[in-house]
Amino acid sequence: MAGQARAIADAWSPPGAPESWWLTAATFAAIAEEEPLLDLAAAIPADRLPPLLLAAAVRFLALGSELDRHYPRPGGVQPPRDPGFGAELAAFARPRRAELAEVCSGHRYQMNEVGRCADVLPVLAAIAAEAGRPLALVDLGTGAGLGLSPDRYRYTYTDPDGARRETGDPGAPVRIECTVRSGVPPVPPQVPVVAARVGVDVEPLDVADPHVLAWLAACVPPEVGAVTRFAAAAALARSEPVRKVRGDLLDVLPAVVASLPADALVCLVDTYVHVFLPPQDLRRFDALVDEIGRERDVEWVSVDPLVPLGPEARATVQGLDVPNAWVRENREGGVSGVIGRVSIRDGVRTGTVLGRAHLGAAWLEWL
Ligand SMILES: C[S@@+](CC[C@H](N)C(=O)[O-])C[C@H]1O[C@@H](n2cnc3c(N)ncnc32)[C@H](O)[C@@H]1O
Repeated sequence: MAGQARAIADAWSPPGAPESWWLTAATFAAIAEEEPLLDLAAAIPADRLPPLLLAAAVRFLALGSELDRHYPRPGGVQPPRDPGFGAELAAFARPRRAELAEVCSGHRYQMNEVGRCADVLPVLAAIAAEAGRPLALVDLGTGAGLGLSPDRYRYTYTDPDGARRETGDPGAPVRIECTVRSGVPPVPPQVPVVAARVGVDVEPLDVADPHVLAWLAACVPPEVGAVTRFAAAAALARSEPVRKVRGDLLDVLPAVVASLPADALVCLVDTYVHVFLPPQDLRRFDALVDEIGRERDVEWVSVDPLVPLGPEARATVQGLDVPNAWVRENREGGVSGVIGRVSIRDGVRTGTVLGRAHLGAAWLEWL
């Protein structure tokens, strides 16, 4: 359990990460090191993502408490690093073991990171430029549907030389900032036209429900950028709801695709969903994409860590090759999301790995 918590701290906040990630790293370090937290995490079944679920439960109960002063507010600043945070977190958890266990057993860890639209946008832009027709977006494992509106956000990409490239609606309330560490992602002057959009999830989340919203907010890493863009995206999702279909993506996808306009290019997008599918379901999904591709052109954009999750990972969920260095870095704890594109045009399938990204979309590397 301690190893898992440390791996999460390293993945979110590796050496050299911006200072604003200190609280996220310190939370998972405390779960790895402090006795009451480690015990609580160890009691959670592995498939419920114990360290992540516990971190969310702590954040949920900390609202309004003395501990709350360490957490950033939307649009605010990141409270300064406090070396005593881990011990304070343990002292907070000790008398609240039962409450924390109850929150954990009554919730699932649910993360909907709108910043991942910065990973997907350059791929959609390239697809739209080639296709010359509007896109029909299907966000698989959509959660609250925050990934369904990439055309409603404002993006700033900061290139390795410090130049800033901006795109999207200048007046958008949701602002996504991403540092490009290498390569040149094709940031479009205008975001692609989305003619239709639908999300699919086994458990779609309605952010108009205050309890759902509060829990989802507790699952956001306590980093000021993440907290700010989540609040803005959730507010937009409340005022402009998008269509969401409840169901297992393997079951509902054919009907969802059949409901999309015939003249639009179907783009299936999955961010941090397929990595959690068992191998047989990944194979079924792959076959389903081929089946759809026999009927109409289709694109599958994926942003997922290498599989199987953990040190043995070496393949992408799309079965594409990645640079050896990525496999090595993943083994050493540097988990990131591989950005890949599978296209079926006129029945012919191609696949390309395009880059990789920070789990919370803080940075991007383009091949
Ligand atoms: C880690 S979250 C990612 C959410 C969102 N795509 C993002 O990147 O912020 C995974 C989501 O996939 C959903 N999910 C997992 N397996 C699924 C399946 N077989 N069919 C549909 N949704 C699934 C979960 O309910 C959850 O909302």
